[in-house]
Amino acid sequence: DISAGGRTPLLIDTDPGVDDALALLMAFDAPQYDVVALTIAAGNVGLLHTVANALKLCEVAGMDIPVHAGCDAPLLHPAPDASYVHGRDGFGDIGYPPASRQAEAEHAALAIIRLSHVHAGRLAVCMLGPLTNLAVALKLDHTLPQRIGRMVVMGGAVTGQGNTTPTAEFNIGFDPEAAHLVFEAFAAADRLVEVADWEAVIRHGMLHADVERWLQAEHPRARFYDAISRKTREWSAGLRGDRWHAADALAMALVVAPQHARRLERRPLRVELTGTETRGMTVVDWGRRSGRPDHAELLMDYDQAAFEGLIRRALRVE
Ligand code: RIB
Ligand code: CA
Repeated sequence: DISAGGRTPLLIDTDPGVDDALALLMAFDAPQYDVVALTIAAGNVGLLHTVANALKLCEVAGMDIPVHAGCDAPLLHPAPDASYVHGRDGFGDIGYPPASRQAEAEHAALAIIRLSHVHAGRLAVCMLGPLTNLAVALKLDHTLPQRIGRMVVMGGAVTGQGNTTPTAEFNIGFDPEAAHLVFEAFAAADRLVEVADWEAVIRHGMLHADVERWLQAEHPRARFYDAISRKTREWSAGLRGDRWHAADALAMALVVAPQHARRLERRPLRVELTGTETRGMTVVDWGRRSGRPDHAELLMDYDQAAFEGLIRRALRVE
């Protein structure tokens, strides 16, 4: 396939979500990637809102990228959303005028499969929400992993320090069965999954004071982001102190600028499905006791200055 100017085709599955929005702005700027589609999950808030938010962000950024609605619930067990973090509508409840463009008719799972054939062997995929759409795609086509160039997942907590239950991170905890199917399918195909987990996100917080200064920029991107992120930044300051954490932005940094990852660890990783206290936990076999292959590559350390530089650029600061 000949992607635009030889750039690598990038499919982003996302549940926007304020940190998703920042990650998307970073991806739109990446010179070596051509964002070929956004596939939308339910998660942070319901699917109607996450689809509307994706369409609105594309409009604000002037990007005409196909948006495909996906599954409106986890595969098996219902799960609570994260509207307490992102606002009821997922974008800070600012009441923005909806985008004029509509989502595509094709379901997210079918778009993932189709684009894996169109860009066979080159398609990069970045998962910023629950893994439901990808799990469904894998059930429809188990040969999918072998056509994926890079699979990057924002999710998990590699030593069990979660952000929704004590041991589960939101994206995995929202649909553990989907996450299990994804990690097992990629392992069975001997394909690596790159993971930016919650604990890495916590190690890469940004000073609220810096973010507030960046968001004074006049550019429409900064103005919009300032508005939609205000609620979650205020919530975060109350809860976590002087630093703000944009989980999906760290995963997208790993996608668009992997050269700034300073430490990565490869280990076996499985998702707990039945634990009373641990359902949704990403169990990393740090001691390699299971004898299973090292199919997860875990981001342990990323250059903070480079990370913040990518964010400032996405917001058109300076
Ligand atoms: O745990 C953080 C993840 O859950 C991020 O993707 C955030 O957008 C929420 O979906
Ligand atoms: Ca997300």
